[in-house]
Amino acid sequence: MTQLPGLLDTEALRKDFPILDRVIHDGRKLVYLDNAATSQTPRQVLDVLSEYYEQHNANVHRGVHVLAEEATALYEGARDKVAEFINAPSRDEVIFTKNASESLNLVANMLGWADEPYRVDSETEIVITEMEHHSNIVPWQLLAQRTGAKLKWFGLTDDGRLDLSNIDEIITEKTKIVSFVLVSNILGTINPVEAIVRRAQEVGALVCVDASQAAPHMPLDVQALQADFVAFTGHKMCGPTGIGVLWGRQELLEDLPPFLGGGEMIETVSMHSSTYAPAPHKFEAGTPPIAQAVGLGAAIDYLNSIGMDKILAHEHALTEYAVKKLGEVPDLRIIGPTTAEDRGAAISFTLGDIHPHDVGQVLDEQGIAVRVGHHCARPVCLRYGIPATTRASFYLYSTPAEIDALVDGLEHVRNFFG
Ligand code: ALA
Repeated sequence: MTQLPGLLDTEALRKDFPILDRVIHDGRKLVYLDNAATSQTPRQVLDVLSEYYEQHNANVHRGVHVLAEEATALYEGARDKVAEFINAPSRDEVIFTKNASESLNLVANMLGWADEPYRVDSETEIVITEMEHHSNIVPWQLLAQRTGAKLKWFGLTDDGRLDLSNIDEIITEKTKIVSFVLVSNILGTINPVEAIVRRAQEVGALVCVDASQAAPHMPLDVQALQADFVAFTGHKMCGPTGIGVLWGRQELLEDLPPFLGGGEMIETVSMHSSTYAPAPHKFEAGTPPIAQAVGLGAAIDYLNSIGMDKILAHEHALTEYAVKKLGEVPDLRIIGPTTAEDRGAAISFTLGDIHPHDVGQVLDEQGIAVRVGHHCARPVCLRYGIPATTRASFYLYSTPAEIDALVDGLEHVRNFFG
């Protein structure tokens, strides 16, 4: 068995994930390499979810009965766990949403409805990058269309990094917000936050970071990032689906207007007007994803029990191994950085002129789950002149043997398609 320095004890860890024992097709053991799309859920989280529904289920912030108080304490306790996990200065800066897309849409809508000095209008500019997930493109396109603001973006270098050579022309005195991904879901690139934040701060622009592919895989410190908003999602970090997070700086959350209206986000309501609860509740209209937040809290406990530094080291070792092994597959072209230093554990590639959907299907027949397509980042495929990619992505329970299985599987794909 291949041993690499820095690997976690996956033999023990994998026992926490019942789904990894699944046998599919003709008795083939599942090789799950689609972790950038969604991660698997450990027993520790499943147990907390069952216990929540079996013992504590009620609506939050509303009732005076025992269950309501317990559910509220669990929900707000999850907020504390998130705040600590990302080193937020205050728990009130943590807003629960349903996913990272909703978090990013929330930022765009806050700015669209804001008063000066935050308002995005026809005199102002929005900056994103060409490597964004659609969830960090479309909300800004919608905002630009609605307000007349100009949408600008950083392009990409041939090796899958951001081209910041024209940073002073892209981020200008007119820029109101710069929103970019910390780790690309398709290229795997880890972006140079500091350089972008420095320029944004020079011109007084706000910074929003999409940390969906970072929060599950590395220590995340919102204070060190120096961003104004950070978005991520629970289901990629051992949590359930239906729970996302938006962290925002407190003074901004105090000043910016709510987006969704409804129960729980108000202070008072009359037939003429309403006043709003303080953040974070101002941004959490209606019954929130209570069980999901509690599940995310359990996922954070689980990740902390392993250690984010150790998870990062594990994935780094796997990524280095995978880049090397994939590099030896004839006709395989990695789309994104080919060094492990500044990349995360999602690796996209093409295999000759075999369509990625065919690659994915033949791999699936061998029990290997990868994602194929444009990965909700179509502009990246357009940039590199490819219709789609095959993407293998690893997590804390992934092993070198699974990478070997992928490489063997690709050999099979090549033979199959002649
Ligand atoms: N954003 C997820 C992915 O990259 C769905 O697959």
